[in-house]
Amino acid sequence: MAQKMKWDYSNQPGAKMFPHLFKPIKIRNMTIPNRIKYAATEDNLNDHNGFITPAGLEYMRERAKGVVGGICCMQGVYMDQKREGQGYVGQAAAWDDKYLPGLTKMADAIKGEGAIADYQLMHCGRVGGVELDHCVGPSLVPQRLKIFRPVKEMSKEDIRLTIKQHAEAAKRGVQAGFEMMEISGIVGYLLSNFISSYTNRRTDEYGGDIEGRCRFMVDTIENVRDAIGKEMPLMVRLCAEELLDEVGGNTPEESMTSYKIAEKAGIDCISVTQGWQESGTPVITRDIPQGKWLYNAKRAKQAVKVPVSMAYRLFDPKIPDKAIGEGNLDIWEMCRPMIADPHMPKKVLEGRLDEIRPCVACNLCLARLFRDAPMTCYVNPICAHESDKSWQATPAETKKRIIVAGGGPAGLEFAYVAASRGHEVHVFEEKDHLGGQIWHASKGLYGDEELMGMITYQYAMCKRHGVDFHLGQKVTPELLDEESPDSLILATGVKFGHPNVPGIEKHPLVSALDVVEGKATVGDRVVIWGGKKPAISAALILSEKGKKVTMVFKERKVGKDVNPSYIWRYIQKLGAKGVKTYKEADIEAFTDDGVIVKALYETRIPVKCDTVVYAEREPVRDLEAVAKEKGIEVQVIGDALVPRSLSNAIHDGYRMGIRI
Ligand SMILES: Cc1cc2nc3c(=O)[nH]c(=O)nc-3n(C[C@H](O)[C@H](O)[C@H](O)COP(=O)(O)O)c2cc1C
Ligand code: SF4
Repeated sequence: MAQKMKWDYSNQPGAKMFPHLFKPIKIRNMTIPNRIKYAATEDNLNDHNGFITPAGLEYMRERAKGVVGGICCMQGVYMDQKREGQGYVGQAAAWDDKYLPGLTKMADAIKGEGAIADYQLMHCGRVGGVELDHCVGPSLVPQRLKIFRPVKEMSKEDIRLTIKQHAEAAKRGVQAGFEMMEISGIVGYLLSNFISSYTNRRTDEYGGDIEGRCRFMVDTIENVRDAIGKEMPLMVRLCAEELLDEVGGNTPEESMTSYKIAEKAGIDCISVTQGWQESGTPVITRDIPQGKWLYNAKRAKQAVKVPVSMAYRLFDPKIPDKAIGEGNLDIWEMCRPMIADPHMPKKVLEGRLDEIRPCVACNLCLARLFRDAPMTCYVNPICAHESDKSWQATPAETKKRIIVAGGGPAGLEFAYVAASRGHEVHVFEEKDHLGGQIWHASKGLYGDEELMGMITYQYAMCKRHGVDFHLGQKVTPELLDEESPDSLILATGVKFGHPNVPGIEKHPLVSALDVVEGKATVGDRVVIWGGKKPAISAALILSEKGKKVTMVFKERKVGKDVNPSYIWRYIQKLGAKGVKTYKEADIEAFTDDGVIVKALYETRIPVKCDTVVYAEREPVRDLEAVAKEKGIEVQVIGDALVPRSLSNAIHDGYRMGIRI
């Protein structure tokens, strides 16, 4: 077992900037040197039988480094051979001693970085049985979401067996060397299925009132405690607010009663959660203001005496620092901020805030889990490749002089990665600011200003690695002659254009970029020509201003380029604002008072409008041929290659940066 490191934060800038985050706290008999916890994260990096892989170990080792002595929780393990508790194809298992070697390596990897190794038991209940034709729950309440399996009601024998399996898996956690343990009752998994009146309709001792519905939790806590002994801190993740009003479910008061019952049953710390996967209320998307859910941590602090921790959109360290200072929270948990940047809290401690790669709350990581794919991150190309040496930036064999045309996310990502490898890199940006389309996208509504955090991060990294900036300067053939670089990276992005249809001169045409920037003059009835992200941004901004908006697009659904875990939010918002959509459609002609939409089944629909917003993007790569003629090596990245997403821009930039 690794030697425990001693942590002294007193000389670190972050400990002064955030005085409450780096103070010790006691959970049961264990003193944790700070208030930081990496929250459990399924990553689908284990093999199909639940064995931990080198990729999973290295993923966790980086996060363990990041918590600088705090708690680092391993993903929730499933505990039954039948796999009813398994929610993800690559979920780690702990139903047999054969898993011990892998679990031991995991605990050692975490402790080796001086972090506290936390182990999580997670039976996924209604969200389980991912490899089966059913899942299990306290009662046969039909699923609301089609992706989950039909529910089979658990018998008392099933319940007793499941509790025993929790205890046995807990024992394996202790044998593997974990130092802390938790039981997950998050987002509609088994524990919460029993506690909620929505999913627990039982009439035996495991159902009925809130006391009865908590009996499964109490029995599980008591059996796990017996298995792990008196010393080890035991934590539970419990829902404070189910947000299931449309189908019933517990009141927030009942949820607090469940907290008190957990405390009485011997729990040493409670992690506050909110919302269920079946809830229609968004909880962790970008439109949810950071810190919104802290009122639930405050309620929990008032309900129980044990320490209270919480994650959920606490991305800016100022927010948890203040909450802890005010006595409304004890421990700052993070999941996605540390998927995006595994060293996030370490950088907070070192005062390197602008070097934090920010999570943009897009939920691609979650979408991948539900599509049985290994973890990946929208903004962090190294995520889940931590063990792959060929994926890391290593010193370049031949140093090159490189010009990057375009200061958007693709160009900037490339620039600092290439510079970190020893290349001489010059970024030319024709505008007087960096950011490319992200600069525009960040003017969108509902938290989109957070997108610019990515550009701030990339700029800080460029400065750290000595990238030269030439703002307000366009790369031209003459400039290439003057500079004669070894390589030209075309990260020139897109332009917004439009096809020429009959009558087009009859209406003012404005670009979606000008709309989001607030530069365009727009009438009261608007047709948006396009259905992807820029079109959605423009539609939301204009409908928010009270304009009557219609979207016309060729694809089968709106937001084809938006990640599936996010698009439903936009669809809800567009619907609420009364935005009309014509899918698999196009504008065929402009008339005196509007446009003719060619819609499904060859129908022609006249739509009245006074402004048309053009929202389709075309790549800009005019310089490619010119540079090639001059004998300069040219690489095209980001939207200049194919208009796609911020993620593609970053990943393109990174991959080219480590290769060149
Ligand atoms: C990809 C992913 C996997 C997760 N896996 C688990 C898990 O295994 N156990 C658990 O209790 N919560 C899990 N969660 C929930 C997180 O621990 C966390 O509570 C949630 O993401 C909100 O915090 P955040 O805003 O810091 O991401 C997962 C979340 C994500 C995004
Ligand atoms: S995939 Fe998106 S939500 Fe998940 S960590 Fe990365 S940026 Fe954040």
